[in-house]
Amino acid sequence: MKKTTLIKEGKAKRLYNTDETENVWVEYMDQATALNGKRKDHVEGKGTLNNQIDCMIFELLNAKGIHTDFIKKISKNEQLNLKVNIIPLEVVVRNAASGSFQRKFDVPYLQEFDQPVVEFFYKSDALDDPFINTNQAQALKIITAEEGEILQEMALRINSILKQRFAQAGLELVDFKVEFGKNSEGEIILADEISPDSCRLVDLETRASFDKDVFRKKTGDLVTVYQEVLDRLINSQEEA
Ligand code: C5P
Repeated sequence: MKKTTLIKEGKAKRLYNTDETENVWVEYMDQATALNGKRKDHVEGKGTLNNQIDCMIFELLNAKGIHTDFIKKISKNEQLNLKVNIIPLEVVVRNAASGSFQRKFDVPYLQEFDQPVVEFFYKSDALDDPFINTNQAQALKIITAEEGEILQEMALRINSILKQRFAQAGLELVDFKVEFGKNSEGEIILADEISPDSCRLVDLETRASFDKDVFRKKTGDLVTVYQEVLDRLINSQEEA
């Protein structure tokens, strides 16, 4: 199989067509962005780290019965995915307060929730990805009521698998963002990426950040912490 034309260059990935129409070739770039793309830096080695972490996570989710778009790893910074129609929603799951939740409700950093919180954001760079509830998403004909329930349920199942997996690596999953798409049969499947770019992870003991917050807040070296996440996932693989 060969990659052919460029479909799109995003903030951290390039998507290419392949000579097999149902697949998409994904290349992870050495680029980090913050503030919805307003800050953009070249970060040598980031693409390789995120691709490897994402491949491990999607392989696990596939094995646990979550339907995903992940087919296989192609190289250190490339993978093959199933082509899907992305639903323009970012689905965020939170286990503790951080980021926009903490700012909005003025609660202590890492305050634990009794139940995970699921939030939806409308994917729109022009509108700065506004918060949207499922009624609003139905009014805009983005999803049906039933699809809203499927997204919520899948997001929570993904959360419980990932929470346990990261805990085995000594990390607390504070929150994360996922995106879903529809395959050619209209089935909702997990798409896009799960990596330290899209998750908040803190060390279970020290509470140090092991995610993009070190880049957002300029508190540490992104490559060093992403490498540590990958190493910890690899070293805890036996128990997984
Ligand atoms: O900023 P906020 O607290 O709403 O982010 C919640 C989670 O979603 C974080 O893990 C963040 O990394 C992720 N996120 C993302 N892409 C966005 C917005 C948030 O991956 N555009």
